[in-house]
Amino acid sequence: MAVHRTTTSKINLAFAKDVDEGLSKAFKTLPSRYFYDLRGDKIFQEIMHMPEYYLTNCEYEIFMHRAGDLLRALQMNGDGFDLVEFGAGDGYKTRVLIKELLREGADFRYVPIDISGDVLAALKWELKRDFPDLEVETLHAEYFTALQNLREQSDRPKLVLFIGSSIGNFPEERTKAFLAALYEKLNAGDQVLLGYDLRKNPHVILQAYNDAAGITKRFNMNLLQRINRELGANFDLGRFTHYASYDPQSGFARSYLVSLQSQEVSIKALDKYFHFAEGECIHTEISRKYTVGQMVAFVEEAGFRLKEHFYDRRTYFVDTLIEKAP
Ligand code: AVJ
Repeated sequence: MAVHRTTTSKINLAFAKDVDEGLSKAFKTLPSRYFYDLRGDKIFQEIMHMPEYYLTNCEYEIFMHRAGDLLRALQMNGDGFDLVEFGAGDGYKTRVLIKELLREGADFRYVPIDISGDVLAALKWELKRDFPDLEVETLHAEYFTALQNLREQSDRPKLVLFIGSSIGNFPEERTKAFLAALYEKLNAGDQVLLGYDLRKNPHVILQAYNDAAGITKRFNMNLLQRINRELGANFDLGRFTHYASYDPQSGFARSYLVSLQSQEVSIKALDKYFHFAEGECIHTEISRKYTVGQMVAFVEEAGFRLKEHFYDRRTYFVDTLIEKAP
């Protein structure tokens, strides 16, 4: 009799392979990109609204108060442009940016890019409801594939949004590779707004990833539940916990899942058992904090020219406008 396989889709095969690789390492890891299934998206929305997670509010504040200054810094001179967003999510912060840009009289199309068709459809529906006159063109693709397509289909200048400190999830080599690839795919004169989290009192940072209500813990643990659901594993959530750390010297916030006892976990889709020692950690996420100087060095190394920094009033967070020189 044939073995019943629950995982036949492409996504699940990639997921299975990444889980296998990560859990087979001497120091176990799981990629943070797998946090964002339907449940993970919901928990992340809760994170964005919790008191300790200052990042979202800071960037909201910047968009609320500085949209006019941003528009002037773009120097579009009233010409139409494409507002392209990488990883559109639920659009909570983008909505305020769009609203303020429209109020300032900007002429633009909004082009969100995401690998989730569901996310894009929901976002488009909401934007059409809130801004009936706004032209929205969703692109269901990987970021750079989408940029390539855009470049081929229109020569309107672009402002690419890569906000929300998403760049903080990259290890250093990927940050450099990402910025270099972005530079390569843009036309001369295109601009990028890069939103990233700044160094500050380490207590403030640590609490953002270790909230009192345990929402971040749920977010991290959902990764194990996702492996249970999609790969037929038997992680017992009561036998793991969440651990967050922040190192002020390197600026790296890191999250882990900790095994509370010595245990074996079976993953059916891999036809394997994995051993966890008591106290053993699985590294699940980095959320890097930068100085402005560090980020400027990265973007300039990739070829970009610095235009302007937009800060919140506490200078917790910054949106940096850069351009590919015309
Ligand atoms: C969405 C990647 C910016 O790293 O701060 C929030 C994700 N993880 N709490 C971040 C996250 C734990 C978040 N980013």
